[in-house]
Amino acid sequence: MSTDAQQSYRDTVAASLADPASFWGEAARLVDWITPPRQVLDDSNPPFYRWFPDGRLNVCFNALDRHVVHGRADQTALIYDSPVTGTTKEYTYAQLLDLVARFGGVLRDLGVRKGDRVVIYMPMIPEAAIAMLACARIGAVHSVVFGGFAPAELAARIEDAEPTVVVSASCGIEPSRTIPYKPILDEAIRRSEHKPDHCVIVQREQLTCDLGERDLDWAQVMHPDAVAPAECVPVQATDPLYVLYTSGTTGKPKGIVRDSGGYAVALRWSMTNLYGVQPGETWLCGSDVGWVVGHSYIVYAPLLTGATTILFEGKPVGTPDAGTYWRLIQEHGAVAAFTAPTAIRAIKKQDPDGELVKAYDLSTLRTLFLAGERLDPDTWQWATDQLGVPVIDNWWQTETGWPIAINPVGTAQFEIRPGSPALPTVGYDVRVLDERGEEVPPGTEGAICIKLPLPPGTLPTLWRDDERYVSSYLSAYDGYYLTGDGGFVDEDGYLYVMGRTDDVLNVAGHRLSTGSLEEALAGHPAVAECAVIGVADSLKGQVPRALVVLKAGIDLDEKGTEQLEAELVQRVRDEVGAVAALRQVDVVEALPKTRSGKILRKTMRQIADGQEAQVPSTIEDPSVLEALGPVLRTPSA
Ligand code: COA
Ligand code: AMP
Repeated sequence: MSTDAQQSYRDTVAASLADPASFWGEAARLVDWITPPRQVLDDSNPPFYRWFPDGRLNVCFNALDRHVVHGRADQTALIYDSPVTGTTKEYTYAQLLDLVARFGGVLRDLGVRKGDRVVIYMPMIPEAAIAMLACARIGAVHSVVFGGFAPAELAARIEDAEPTVVVSASCGIEPSRTIPYKPILDEAIRRSEHKPDHCVIVQREQLTCDLGERDLDWAQVMHPDAVAPAECVPVQATDPLYVLYTSGTTGKPKGIVRDSGGYAVALRWSMTNLYGVQPGETWLCGSDVGWVVGHSYIVYAPLLTGATTILFEGKPVGTPDAGTYWRLIQEHGAVAAFTAPTAIRAIKKQDPDGELVKAYDLSTLRTLFLAGERLDPDTWQWATDQLGVPVIDNWWQTETGWPIAINPVGTAQFEIRPGSPALPTVGYDVRVLDERGEEVPPGTEGAICIKLPLPPGTLPTLWRDDERYVSSYLSAYDGYYLTGDGGFVDEDGYLYVMGRTDDVLNVAGHRLSTGSLEEALAGHPAVAECAVIGVADSLKGQVPRALVVLKAGIDLDEKGTEQLEAELVQRVRDEVGAVAALRQVDVVEALPKTRSGKILRKTMRQIADGQEAQVPSTIEDPSVLEALGPVLRTPSA
């Protein structure tokens, strides 16, 4: 039986689909506009939809200035908590505004204008968030690149975004080692045809770096005598706030464009109505600013809400132990926390009986949210038993910027069904389709799609590539956005997201492309062809495995093969980054393919995972697949 609140939520979702203009027009009041939008949705040019086309605003103003004006100047906006450096530092809204306005001035003085791009390649330090907000302040478009990516990935993003300025740091600090960022940045710029005019570098005391001709020291340019603060530059709601590159199936990352007005409205609405966080409350999101979760729920949503956000430089385990999240919650009084299931699995592995959970006072915690990969019922159960608060799965993607499906605890809590992120939320008309584009009955798996238009905050297109936007997402089923995930809906409308239907990998909540790993492997002189598949892993959800075929005439003995496999693992670390976590490479005679030459990655993945393998009738030579069976079934590493 549903409660009044649940029924009212279901009605709201239905109303948001039946009359999006009314629903989002009302939600738009949560944001301060310079020119309030008269039009809510421009649907005159499908499949390209635009939200609040005639509205003008500044997202940084909404995240900082308006809170300072309205009495939150002395409230903590951001808490930097860094067990890896032994630092905790709090910034009030007034202090954060001062730093952001100054860095906006620095960028302006370096020639960054409205619409220009700024690449941010940073570890989890406050300067990363300051640089993002400074871009928003002056109408520049930031493109944050995850600090774990190696030169080739960074170069691809610099080449595509063509930044005027790159903001970076001298080093990142991983539990096991200090990573010099500057050589990675220099190498990426060397590889990229586009060269930024300047790089602003935060010198960290753990490892400083030499600065070259185009480089500037953050501390020097930020000195109050060196720069005048920047004012907020008005932008159209439809102007891009950022471009965030994500992995497709090819080696070329997709530049997800995020608009300004729709994003601000959707995030502000979601923070209270979905996540249940109110202005003035403290929230922990243990992601990284390099991922979409970090953009939306470390930086923008909590600040747009006037909440306090924790920026955590550390890991769920090993910095120093599996109690680190619980310490953060106790010390800073967080009312809710958000992380990835893999983080909980890592904590569970080290603290199975929850001794460290009991060691902290978690009385402020109301909810734990988990996203980034499928939340397996065992992990859900463990977290629920240990924490005694609702553990809420939520499903979304870089493309959407905020949840597609979630149990909306901020409005009404529904029954939790382990394995399901619950119900599609406002604005998302989710349908599960079969190969012919027909909706499947409840309980039947198919391609999860969203009927257009997508709600505010979701991608309007890909950076400078409308064509790829259409071919990647909108061409499979006319009038629908293809999520790339497969799954089903139950009789009550609960969605079950079972995994990608394409070759995108999800390693410890990090989205990686098979294509970029394969490109790195194929660059080795001994490799004729190769395939990467994602296989199930009890900690990381998935880990990549590589199968390589050697060039004709290369005949290696056991030692030579081992050496080559080690070289290939290293190549992927050097080209893509250690986050790819490729540990296992097997040299094989041939790869199974269809007659048209498509490598049967999915079939190999099913064999490696011990599932029933679906072998397409178009397979070229079934004996190749048979020969691979023992290799795939026996992990050699
Ligand atoms: N900069 C440089 N290197 C990085 C990095 C960064 N920002 N992040 C990770 N790496 C490196 C690590 O040092 C490690 O290198 P190694 O192979 O030399 O040890 C490698 O990349 C893999 O790191 P990681 O994915 O963190 O795996 P792990 O085994 O060290 O830790 C977990 C496992 C589960 C604790 C970790 O993956 C984790 O915290 N996951 C949560 C992910 C998350 O929050 N995702 C966001 C989606 S919501
Ligand atoms: P990213 O764009 O990096 O956020 O990755 C998005 C992908 O991660 C989705 O397409 C899903 O495959 C997966 N994903 C994210 N959250 C969930 C979830 N709650 N349940 C299942 N899969 C998820």
